Amino acid sequence: MTGTSAGVSVGGKTVDLPTRSGTIGPDVIDIGTLYKNTGTFTYDPGFTSTASCESKITYIDGDEGVLLHRGYPIEQLAEHGDFLEACYLLLYGELPTKTQKDDFDYRVTHHTMVHEQMSRFFTGFRRDAHPMAVMCGCVGALSAFYHDSTDITDPHQRMVASLRMIAKMPTIAAMAYKYHIGQPFVYPKNDLDYASNFLRMCFAVPCEEYVANPVLARAMDRIFILHADHEQNASTSTVRLAGSSGANPFACIAAGIACLWGPAHGGANEAALNMLAEIGSVDRIPEYVARAKDKNDPFRLMGFGHRVYKNYDPRARIMQRTTHEVLNELGIKDDPMLEVAMELERIALTDEYFIEKKLYPNIDFYSGITLKALGFPTTMFTVLFALARTVGWIAQWNEMIEDPEQRIGRPRQLYIGEPKRDYVPVSKR
Ligand code: CMC
Repeated sequence: MTGTSAGVSVGGKTVDLPTRSGTIGPDVIDIGTLYKNTGTFTYDPGFTSTASCESKITYIDGDEGVLLHRGYPIEQLAEHGDFLEACYLLLYGELPTKTQKDDFDYRVTHHTMVHEQMSRFFTGFRRDAHPMAVMCGCVGALSAFYHDSTDITDPHQRMVASLRMIAKMPTIAAMAYKYHIGQPFVYPKNDLDYASNFLRMCFAVPCEEYVANPVLARAMDRIFILHADHEQNASTSTVRLAGSSGANPFACIAAGIACLWGPAHGGANEAALNMLAEIGSVDRIPEYVARAKDKNDPFRLMGFGHRVYKNYDPRARIMQRTTHEVLNELGIKDDPMLEVAMELERIALTDEYFIEKKLYPNIDFYSGITLKALGFPTTMFTVLFALARTVGWIAQWNEMIEDPEQRIGRPRQLYIGEPKRDYVPVSKR
């Protein structure tokens, strides 16, 4: 949709740039012809003012704390639906009918096994390797196993690759965990739902029966829904950029996993829990809040702040409730980390520094406590994020491939290095 135009004057020359309007959210100025008409680029490190694409998948209003997938509020999806329904919605654009849902669940469930040779990949890693390092390697390796779904020009192959990744990611994540703790891999079981199957692959051992607790399985499922997509964040943009060159989908998702690992992004849930453990008790909170506010101290309150949300992250609210449900179910009455988290949140939300900078708890603030209570070590937290975000990456990657305006992503730069100079032989330097 095209709106009005914006006049830009550069070096005495004025050009009219068209603006475009979406269905909701701010308009954008289309600067596609700026360089051609003025010989200048725009400069926007960190893309704080740049829309990199059009998308119909996810909408965030950061000021109001709103998150919509295909128009549906995250609160409603998390309350009434399950993760595979959210996957269907993100991939196909509409909520499934009962028949479509059953068919989708069946297809995902029947793609959960990985090629048996994949299991030998794991033994190449040191036992103490971080499971995210293992994930980067193993997901990238999928393209060496599933050649019949790497032709990105074939919509059928794209959909097969998409289903394969949504289906196999829990299996690979659970294998990474089992390898890490020295236990045998547990194969998927087709009569279980997605979350129960995942919990079983992580926590069952061959010598005894394992039945997933339905409250905990529901919590796991909800955690997956909350992480499913988040528009053009760093890892999604990485997937799109990798995919823009025509790279195969498995390689693109491996690139997304690598990006997600960083502590400013998906690694924040691990960092947030480590921080809560380091603070240890409520009386030490003021010391850490003071450090977070100190310009000369690089310390940040992990699980606080967001590039887009300048209000309470709607996912954090649902996550906080889920944390209470899980601790309740497990009979954990006085969790010291939860106590520190709630007090830290209370103090930060009333502190001038955090109010002025609009720093609110994000999804990672409470997810770590929940995942720890579910039995996962901190090193697995980002792996679970990657598992859940795979559908978002895949939906965005598919959308990009189908976008007629899609071209290879190729940002430019402001060069600040040496101007041209002549080579000096080493004897004369
Ligand atoms: N603790 C203390 N101060 C902070 C924090 C924090 N967690 N986050 C931002 N600030 C300050 C920052 O120092 C800066 O101050 P000033 O304007 O005086 O220089 C101001 O707030 C703006 O911060 P920024 O780094 O310019 O903002 P950004 O949009 O580039 O960064 C962020 C967003 C999420 C990387 C950052 O808030 C952060 O590092 N938070 C902690 C890590 C975290 O929880 N990440 C998870 C994000 S949600 C999950 C996901 O989508 O991956």
